[in-house]
Amino acid sequence: MSESTPQANAQTATADKRKILVTCALPYANGSIHLGHLLEHIQTDIWVRFQRMRGNETYFVCADDAHGTPIMLKAQELGITPEQMIDGVREEHMADFNDFLISFDNYHSTHSDENREFASEIYNKLNAAGHIKTRTISQLYDEEKGMFLPDRFVKGTCPKCKSEDENGDSCDNCGATYSPTEVINPRSVVSGSTPVLRDSEHYFFDLPAFEQMLKDWTTGGSLQEEMANKLNEWFESGLQQWDISRDAPYFGFEIPGAPGKFFYVWLDAPIGYMGSFKNLCDRENIDFDSYWNENSDAELYHFIGKDIIYFHSLFWPAMLEGAGYRKPTSVYAHGFVTVNGAKMSKSKGTFIKGRTYLDHLNPEYLRYYYAAKLTNRIDDLDLNLEDFAQRVNSDLVGKVVNIASRCASFITKRFDGMLSSNVEDQALADEVMAAGDKLAELYEGREFGKAMREIMALADKVNEYIAVKEPWQLVKDETKQQEVQDICSLGINLFRILMIYLKPVLPALAEKTQGFLNDELVWDGHKALLKDHQINKFKALMQRIEMDKVNEMIEASKESLATEKAAPAPTGPLADDPIAPEIQFDDFAKIDLRVAKIVKAEHVEKADKLLRLELDLGGETRQVFAGIKSAYQPEDLEGKLTVMVANLAPRKMRFGMSEGMVLAAGPGGKDLWILNPEEGAQPGMRVK
Ligand code: MSP
Ligand code: ZN
Repeated sequence: MSESTPQANAQTATADKRKILVTCALPYANGSIHLGHLLEHIQTDIWVRFQRMRGNETYFVCADDAHGTPIMLKAQELGITPEQMIDGVREEHMADFNDFLISFDNYHSTHSDENREFASEIYNKLNAAGHIKTRTISQLYDEEKGMFLPDRFVKGTCPKCKSEDENGDSCDNCGATYSPTEVINPRSVVSGSTPVLRDSEHYFFDLPAFEQMLKDWTTGGSLQEEMANKLNEWFESGLQQWDISRDAPYFGFEIPGAPGKFFYVWLDAPIGYMGSFKNLCDRENIDFDSYWNENSDAELYHFIGKDIIYFHSLFWPAMLEGAGYRKPTSVYAHGFVTVNGAKMSKSKGTFIKGRTYLDHLNPEYLRYYYAAKLTNRIDDLDLNLEDFAQRVNSDLVGKVVNIASRCASFITKRFDGMLSSNVEDQALADEVMAAGDKLAELYEGREFGKAMREIMALADKVNEYIAVKEPWQLVKDETKQQEVQDICSLGINLFRILMIYLKPVLPALAEKTQGFLNDELVWDGHKALLKDHQINKFKALMQRIEMDKVNEMIEASKESLATEKAAPAPTGPLADDPIAPEIQFDDFAKIDLRVAKIVKAEHVEKADKLLRLELDLGGETRQVFAGIKSAYQPEDLEGKLTVMVANLAPRKMRFGMSEGMVLAAGPGGKDLWILNPEEGAQPGMRVK
């Protein structure tokens, strides 16, 4: 095993253990994780992994943000319950984060019992303290759909410049902002009907009552300067009461004592941080209160994007204060990701989902690139894909890993994998070892870009040292063998220290390195060198990025230009379910569509969505379970012709084998229509 200095051990044992709870913003449960989200998760994860390496008791929690109108409508459109939808999305999100090596201690949902309890409790306390007011307001209402319309579900003509088909609250043409009730010829995006004004009582949170507290919190010194400035602007323009209720139908929590009224999604979303942590505490016996009570000595940090500062720096601390909880130690905002200098775009293929990235590239490339460009400020960050490939190849493969690959084979082949007991260049060793304190400061202060530059500058020095010493020349001289072992041992040792410094960013590479070095990489390990220590055979640690892979990822992310260009924004089916990416004829030809006759249709016991169909393909019969029960009675189907996918791999379902699929269109529920060939088509005919 490795030799470690007594000093390093002492350090670990006596270090003051901080208690730290960290969150990043809760992604909405109606879309996939993309490379924009991942900036936040990677930034936070690096910071958390650093804190853990330093021995601080650090918990990192997140959750899906599962409530609100868009989620309710999306589920309706898919013909499933919101619960089914958010469960599916949460699984997908968790898999994505896991594969990007985001080390959450818990990933929960805001649609949880814990969250319902905290939301009710906080609301009740605010109410009891007189911080909740009610007032009747007028809002646009969709009579066809039977619901009030959030701003983004209203479209119409801009009241200022008269540009048509603008948003319900702002005009993309002239930049004006307005209330949806001012829009000329308003139209509901949900049903297309003309909304009417309707009154309803709403509940408001009395934010202005917390102004002094918020000012004190702002000047407390732990906020980013840009954030403090923003807050001051908001104080100057005057704080407003915050509308926290929405009328049914709404997917969320009903407000206690207010039937038919629901908490606005942004009320229970940040409470979801508590809900997720509580869920973890119950599972692992952690003292929840010691993190959240008013006098907690724990630190609480929220990492968020710049678009949601208002919610986190005004409403959230005020809600916590009003309900008797502690406030965040700080809220750290980051900027937005652009790709190749522009907003992520579906048509350009730069709106890249996490999963699409993972299908083509190693997650640690992105972790490193983001780290290399992150500051502790709120600036946007450009993911320039050429620069990305070049930077990762030159820094990680060309500099860091290169040190190990240049030195390792000499040690394994000539010296049985033993590192020397000598230090060939003490000054160089000291310099690399001494960098740890400065790097710790940079990590702590979220100056990851600066930290990466320091580390790469050290890597340059180590490579230069090896280049000057030329062990590959010395090795030819029998009298210089000790020197070769000493030089290569120092190279390996310094590689080890650089990997300690990089471990928060590159946990998988660090793990491979641990296997190679036969040593666990712990932060304090930077203070000592491994001597007379056995290492293992070197295997390639990281591949170069090939630009081909990057280009394939872009291609896979492209959606047909037609979808995005379809400006006047489409309404109806195309708006919400845009046309899929282009395919070639060969792709289509793989699908064997056949005319089929429904010879039998029946209910399936215990299945609330399925009908069992027997389909005649002109001699061959197939059994298919189709999710069309909500729209058809079995007797309506028998004898009808339809179209089925005949070469779909059979799928075992709870009720039996499903041997194909019938084709139907529509959002679901009653609105489903199976395809019907024209009179004359015969069972078994191919549809092409
Ligand atoms: N559900 C809310 C957050 C509730 S927190 C109590 C939300 N969700 S989101 O899915 O839209 O965004 C989640 C986080 O990802 C936010 O911090 C947001 O700023 C961040 N990002 C979303 N797109 C981004 C980029 N293109 N670039 C960087 N961050 C981005 O907001
Ligand atoms: Zn306008």
